[in-house]
Amino acid sequence: MTRHDLPSSEITPESAYLDRRRFIAAAGLAGAGLLAAGSLARGAFASGPTPQQKSLGTPYGLQPGDDPTAEEDVTSYNNFYEFGTGKGDPVENAQGFVTKPWTVKVEGLVKKPGNYQLEDFLKPSKVEDRIYRMRCVEAWSMVIPWRGIMLADVLKRAEPTAGAKFVEFTTLMDPKRMPGQRYPALDWPYNEGLRLDEAMHPLTLLATGVYGKELPPQNGAPLRLVVPWKYGFKGIKSIVRIRLTEKMPSTSWSIANPGEYGFYANVNPQVDHPRWSQATEQRIGRFRRIPTLMFNGYADQVGSLYSGMDLRRNY
Ligand code: MTE
Repeated sequence: MTRHDLPSSEITPESAYLDRRRFIAAAGLAGAGLLAAGSLARGAFASGPTPQQKSLGTPYGLQPGDDPTAEEDVTSYNNFYEFGTGKGDPVENAQGFVTKPWTVKVEGLVKKPGNYQLEDFLKPSKVEDRIYRMRCVEAWSMVIPWRGIMLADVLKRAEPTAGAKFVEFTTLMDPKRMPGQRYPALDWPYNEGLRLDEAMHPLTLLATGVYGKELPPQNGAPLRLVVPWKYGFKGIKSIVRIRLTEKMPSTSWSIANPGEYGFYANVNPQVDHPRWSQATEQRIGRFRRIPTLMFNGYADQVGSLYSGMDLRRNY
């Protein structure tokens, strides 16, 4: 996404870029990883999750054919504007981004606010591995084995007060360490939000790892949000602050372009982006486009959160 115009044509050159890279990789030793991903594909859902899928995490809401996207694609094709606006920029420019020590502040409408070292923030929670479908607003998608904790666990511990209705998340602001913040690509620091019931939903994770390892910087180290039924831009990276509020928080993308990026950002094949269709998606690593599912395939789990809401108006 660029701030004002992301041509839908961008999707083609970028999948071509990945194909070219894959061709180069397959020609050499790096092809081994891709072959492993292919064997995951063959076994998927013939008789439940494959041993490889199980070892990566319990499948949540996966559909037939949802094989984990190759790790090398997950960690090299990224949106993280603090490290550049190109998909290949974060993996290059975020190398060496120091995430230790890291503090996380929990504040606002809670009985127990706190300013935690990351280790202390994480310690009381159960760490889980979960494979999720992920859908970017730009109409590409991946299947990602995340590792993380339930956001609900953190919020319950902070004890939201009766007035708390929303949760606001903020990324680190440090233009020295995040060179993209020296340019006005977005309203920095990156800001996102969820309604409190969305934040408390058991599918909503704070991720600390991917593919069984610590998050690499380009994927949002050391702590990022994962909300699998929403477009990827809700998944704010490198979080330093979680604030409970009464009012709906403003978010970086809706400030940049309110007509195109709403607060809810629920994956919805029936509501197109003003400049491209959301009916289908390009699964990274697969040849054919596939249909996009309502709430990204998580309708059974999350549909009730939006009953009675006009999802065209609340996009
Ligand atoms: N978080 C911050 N701080 N800055 C960003 O530019 N990009 C978002 C989201 N989180 C972004 C961010 C977008 S548009 C997407 S699609 C996802 O991160 C991509 O996550 P991934 O690189 O792990 O796939």
